[in-house]
Amino acid sequence: MYKIFFRLVFQHMDPEEAHHLAFRWIRLAARVPVLRTFLAAALAPRYKELRTEAFGLRMHGPFGLAAGFDKNAVAIDGMSMLGFDHVEIGTVTGEAQPGNPKRRLFRLVKDRALINRMGFNNDGSLAVAARLASREPVFRTVVGVNIGKTKAVPEAEAVDDYVKSAERLAPYADYLVVNVSSPNTPGLRNLQATEALRPLLSAVREAADRRVASRHVPLLVKIAPDLADEDVDAVADLAVELGLDGIIATNTTIAREGLGLTSATSLVKETGGLSGAPLKARSLEVLRRLYARVGDRITLVGVGGVENAEDAWQRILAGATLVQGYSAFVYEGPFWGRAIHKGLLARLRTSPYATLADAVGADVRKPV
Ligand SMILES: Cc1cc2nc3c(=O)[nH]c(=O)nc-3n(C[C@H](O)[C@H](O)[C@H](O)COP(=O)(O)O)c2cc1C
Repeated sequence: MYKIFFRLVFQHMDPEEAHHLAFRWIRLAARVPVLRTFLAAALAPRYKELRTEAFGLRMHGPFGLAAGFDKNAVAIDGMSMLGFDHVEIGTVTGEAQPGNPKRRLFRLVKDRALINRMGFNNDGSLAVAARLASREPVFRTVVGVNIGKTKAVPEAEAVDDYVKSAERLAPYADYLVVNVSSPNTPGLRNLQATEALRPLLSAVREAADRRVASRHVPLLVKIAPDLADEDVDAVADLAVELGLDGIIATNTTIAREGLGLTSATSLVKETGGLSGAPLKARSLEVLRRLYARVGDRITLVGVGGVENAEDAWQRILAGATLVQGYSAFVYEGPFWGRAIHKGLLARLRTSPYATLADAVGADVRKPV
């Protein structure tokens, strides 16, 4: 039904307008108690076999919403109602900013992909922290807070900008993500080089500890699929060295070649990060490489091109404790979370593994 609706309505709208419309409906539905209870029961079935623990946090399941959908933390309950077991808000930057000029989001329907050059449009760390502080949660959901650099801040002052966000947001974050991998902020991805990443992650860690003394706020880093394999290894080693809690692999790609794209060249040529199905293979490869390197020492989050339960299951077998998605939600609609949960449960039950945790990394650990 959603697919017909998508073809008849959303496909004819500007993608960003369609996002805002769908977002408004989700937020409205989540505000009506009877409706949200009904929708959560229908769309977000909870199965005890899927219960997941990651960096000390308990979740209903392993599947969550990737950063970028709810940049300003306005729809956490709505997304939980749709079956996301954790919601990563952001990217939030130190200062509020409008992002890039529109149009900046494009649908490659034939490729089940998106290209975006949103450029971290968000309300800024102060406003988002205030929103999170005054939030009265309806559903118990793990909330991750993804932070990035304000565009106007020079690269040399990036650390201070991240620290500002970390200090403001850490108290409300179940976990914190340092995003150094979005392609739409000039210079951001240079921060993935270990010489730049080490001081950045150390400073954010210290800021979170300074601000939140009562608990350990898990700290993760989100990386790009475009890193060379040696650089993936270098980030993995650094994460272990610094005692990081997790790595999120991956963000969108700037690559276009070799991905089998069939959409019109004018669309494919749009600058920005490509997400969705064409990203699947590389994201899985990066995840597998990370797991081979870090094993169970660091929690891995698999994201990029996850379209269905089989994809989510493959991420788990490749080493992901948590799996996230964004683009396929646009194409699959509100029943997506339900399908992933049901499919994961079916796969776990017919697998040799007693729990999801046992399945994590099983494909990589297998003797060849
Ligand atoms: C429109 C859009 C905006 C995004 N914004 C962010 C962002 O602000 N921060 C971030 O870390 N990732 C962002 N992402 C990347 C996603 O979180 C995810 O890593 C990527 O899309 C791959 O997953 P997918 O193939 O399931 O979409 C964005 C993706 C899209 C499509």
